[in-house]
Amino acid sequence: MADTRRRMWSMVGLLAVATLSSGLLTTTANAADPDTSETKAPPIVGGQPAKIAEHPWVVYLTDTQGNQFCGGTVGRVNKIVTAAHCVSDEKPEAIQVVAGRESKQATDGQVAKVTGIWVHPAYQNANSGADVAVLTLDQELPQPPLAIASKDDGALYQAGKTSTVLGWGATAEGGQASDILQKAEVPVVSDQECQKAYPQYKADAMVCAGLPQGGVDSCQGDSGGPLVVENKLVGIVSTGNGCARPNAPGIYTRVSTYHDDVQAQLGS
Ligand code: ARG
Repeated sequence: MADTRRRMWSMVGLLAVATLSSGLLTTTANAADPDTSETKAPPIVGGQPAKIAEHPWVVYLTDTQGNQFCGGTVGRVNKIVTAAHCVSDEKPEAIQVVAGRESKQATDGQVAKVTGIWVHPAYQNANSGADVAVLTLDQELPQPPLAIASKDDGALYQAGKTSTVLGWGATAEGGQASDILQKAEVPVVSDQECQKAYPQYKADAMVCAGLPQGGVDSCQGDSGGPLVVENKLVGIVSTGNGCARPNAPGIYTRVSTYHDDVQAQLGS
C-alpha cells in the first residue's frame, strides 16, 4: 500500500495545478477525481477524540512497518470490512490490522495478520462504486462485530439522519493523520443534493454525509472506516472533493446495497 499511497499523494500534487487554475468551486472539474484537489480548507474535520471502548469494532490498517493508511470495521471476529480502494492492490502479507487501540503511540489491543483479501468483483475505482472489501485475519479478535446495514435499513439512510464517522486520518485537508481515534457527526445527505455535488454519484452504490457549509468530514487516511447510524455500519469512507469543504460532502459506500455479498464473505 506504500505504492498506492505514494501514487495518491503524488496525484494530489499533480492535479493541484489543474484544480487551482480551474477555480475551487468547479466541482465538475474535480469530480472525475475528487480526492486529488489540494487547497487550504477547514480542519476534519470538526471531529473530537473518541474512546475505543465505546467503538470497539473500529480498527486501523497498517503496512508491515506499522504505518496506518486506512480504517476498517470488525464484521465478524476474524473479518474486517474496509474499502476496496484501500486494499485492492495489496497482498495480504503487506497489511496488518490493529484492533482495540485508541492511540497509535500505544501498544495495547491486538495486531492481526491478514490471510485473505476479498474485493467486491464489481469494484473498479472509488468513483464508480462497489468500494468494499473484506479481510480475513489470522486470529479471532475479542472485539464485538458491528452489524452491517441491509436492504431493510432504508430508514437509516434518510436525509438528515445523524451519522458518526470514525478514524485516525487527517484532521485537516492536506494535513497530518491523527495519532488518536477521532469521531465526527455528520447528517446523511439526500441523493439529490449529493448528485448536485458529484456528477459521478451513484445512489445505489454510494451515500453522502456532511454539512452544506462544510467544516465536518472524514479525510485522507479515514478511508475504509465506518459511518455508523443506530449501531449499524451504513457506510464506508470512500472519497470526496477535498475534506470538509462547503457543498462537498463525504462519499461513502452504501453498505446496504452490498449487504448480501459482504455477509456471504463474513460467513465464509
Ligand atoms: N479516499 C480517502 C482515503 O483514502 C478518504 C477521503 C474521504 N474524503 C472526504 N471528503 N470525506 O483515506
